[in-house]
Amino acid sequence: MLLDTYGRVATDLRVSLTDRCNLRCTYCMPAEGLNWLPKPELLTDDEIVRLVSIAVTELGVTEVRFTGGEPLLRPGLVAIVERCAALTPRPQISLTTNGIGLGRTATALREAGLDRVNVSLDTLRPDVFQTMTRRKRHQDVLDGLAAARAAGLVPVKVNAVLMPGLNDDEAPDLLAWALENRYELRFIEQMPLDAQHGWKREGMVTAGDILASLRTRFALTPENEDERGSAPAERWLVDGGPARVGVIASVTRPFCRACDRTRLTADGQVRTCLFAREETDLRAALRSGAPDAEVAERWRRAMWGKKAGSGLDDPSFLQPQRPMSAIGG
Ligand code: 5AD
Ligand code: SF4
Repeated sequence: MLLDTYGRVATDLRVSLTDRCNLRCTYCMPAEGLNWLPKPELLTDDEIVRLVSIAVTELGVTEVRFTGGEPLLRPGLVAIVERCAALTPRPQISLTTNGIGLGRTATALREAGLDRVNVSLDTLRPDVFQTMTRRKRHQDVLDGLAAARAAGLVPVKVNAVLMPGLNDDEAPDLLAWALENRYELRFIEQMPLDAQHGWKREGMVTAGDILASLRTRFALTPENEDERGSAPAERWLVDGGPARVGVIASVTRPFCRACDRTRLTADGQVRTCLFAREETDLRAALRSGAPDAEVAERWRRAMWGKKAGSGLDDPSFLQPQRPMSAIGG
């Protein structure tokens, strides 16, 4: 079990498969991209499957989410999913992706055992998409979403980040579009995780702003608080339900008290939190020939040291050295 000193138990593992991406979202990366991790530092497919296996069979992890960068850029993804789905007990397996290329791979991923996808899409306007991601790939994302739905990777969730002056007027349009397409929309407050350190609290679009904007067109009623569980999204029924919309108030209403996450970076470092400043090197343990029990013990010890919260509200808050794309979203 991955227990910490605050009594939380981590059962949800996020694994970054690569720090590379084919988009350049302004809230994530600079236009020129980043210094990608050199290949020898990345976990191999076998190392990833071994760590997931240790997490699932020895540490009580029940959900595995593959992230990036962009996880669809990892050549071995389908085989990795297939091997993880064959573990006993079988974990829930999901993917957080920008959707590009999902049109080609959704069926193979579904057949390999992928259960669900979260696709990032911030705007319905191709020109705004290009401004926000610096790439002309809007249609590819829409195609990827449709392919995921057709392949049965449902409910297809859509993650949207609103940026002041760019797409902050789009919340109701995004929700109307999601309802029409049977996608479950969740807004995520922009967090200080961009490589350029350009985040500012002032001017950020808050959960409160998003809800007020949605309420100009929809009636929202809070879903039963009990059903939130450890999910960071607070959900509202739209026009009486059953359709729902989520808002992840990572900055203004952090959900650290109920956090059930543990993270692995693409180079095999355990992180207890997106905002953690320390990492624990499991890749070195694997490569020095440590047996599973010892790797598991290092992971347990890392999680025991998990801090109470992200520290975002602390005046001494320091952004993590690694940007989101290198940590895994
Ligand atoms: N703040 C909030 N969300 C972010 N994402 C990436 N960077 C940030 C940030 N700085 C989102 C992506 C994706 C999810 C993994 O996190 O859009 O949907
Ligand atoms: Fe790529 Fe996601 Fe970062 Fe956008 S937010 S550049 S899709 S890793």
